Amino acid sequence: MTERIVMAYSGGLDTTVAIPWTKERTGLDVIALAIDVGQAGENMEDVRQRALDSGAVESLVIDAREEFANEYLLPALKANAMYQRRYPLVSALSRPLISKLLADTAREYGATSFAHGCTGMGNDQVRFEAAVAAIAPELTAIAPIRDLSLTRDVAIDYAERHNLPIRQSKKSPYSIDQNMWGRAVETGFLEDPWNGPIEDLYEYTQDPTVERAPTEVTIAFEQGAPVAIDGERMSFHDVVVKMNELAGAQGVGRLDMVEDRLVGIKSREIYEAPGAVALIEAHTHLEDLTLERDVHRYKRQVEIEWANLVYDGLWFGGLKRSLDAFIDHTQLAVSGEVRMTLHQGRAVVTGRRSDESLYDFSLATYDTGNTFNQDSARGFIDIWSLPSRISARRDQTGK
Ligand code: ARG
Repeated sequence: MTERIVMAYSGGLDTTVAIPWTKERTGLDVIALAIDVGQAGENMEDVRQRALDSGAVESLVIDAREEFANEYLLPALKANAMYQRRYPLVSALSRPLISKLLADTAREYGATSFAHGCTGMGNDQVRFEAAVAAIAPELTAIAPIRDLSLTRDVAIDYAERHNLPIRQSKKSPYSIDQNMWGRAVETGFLEDPWNGPIEDLYEYTQDPTVERAPTEVTIAFEQGAPVAIDGERMSFHDVVVKMNELAGAQGVGRLDMVEDRLVGIKSREIYEAPGAVALIEAHTHLEDLTLERDVHRYKRQVEIEWANLVYDGLWFGGLKRSLDAFIDHTQLAVSGEVRMTLHQGRAVVTGRRSDESLYDFSLATYDTGNTFNQDSARGFIDIWSLPSRISARRDQTGK
């Protein structure tokens, strides 16, 4: 039997051409693997058929939406994960899951290598290969675009000559990656960071500048996980879908940024992540109410590290897994409700409540009935400021 390679297949131009191209260049039989991570607007059955029509010996589609939500997006929400304080790691979160399914499939079919459609310039090649290395270290990676010189022009030309079932033969100016946590758009005129984004780029969000009535929404959380919207209980997957809808309709979650890639390049990125941005905002506000001060402060540091690790492709690494254990433990009391207003591109929290709240009205009120002992404040400040006082005396003598 001819040796096999499992290829992460998206159904797009590059990976469609990569199937016969890889077969031709390496002699390996290609098993195409397409993963449904909630990318809107793709018919996965069409995708499956397209791989077969392009010469794959086997074409598999895995609906991984629930797993993606529960095992990848939920930890990211608990970690309030934002790379460079803005980007909710949309693509970075799907790569470890796709890698895991690639590794599983390769083992199941006795393949000794796997392929992905990334170029040599981005983060995603690193994420796929580093993730597979951590799960199935025996597998070798082949990247047809990077290693077998399959450029976009060659791909279009090859597809036309071989009658491959690609949808558009015109060169799309954008490179797009999307899943249920958001959508990333790169390249084309956006490569000049001074060029403003145009309305055409967006699919998950409406124009936030259009006048419309605000939407109010109440999200219930249990131990860090959203479990209901406006009193209706639903799975986390459904919460994400619903919040994309509600926040997307108000233009929430559009991002325009210059990003530091792992490979050293700065790149201009447009993102839209309505559900992710609204949910992370709500979640942080519930943490404000329920986390002890030092845990709260420390967790904010850990979150930065967590996001960096995931961005850098170390999802299955030891440090990331250890931080997960810490983060999970912090979430035990993060239960309650957050009310927010979605309007004109913003998700603004207007109320929060929790049975686990650490907010004590009788301590916080400035009205009579306050139980905070203000007499203790003087002594506390005396001792708190002692190191400052002593060092100030030293530094000011002899001047
Ligand atoms: N720069 C982002 C990241 O590294 C998005 C990459 C998305 N890929 C794409 N083909 N547009 O996570």
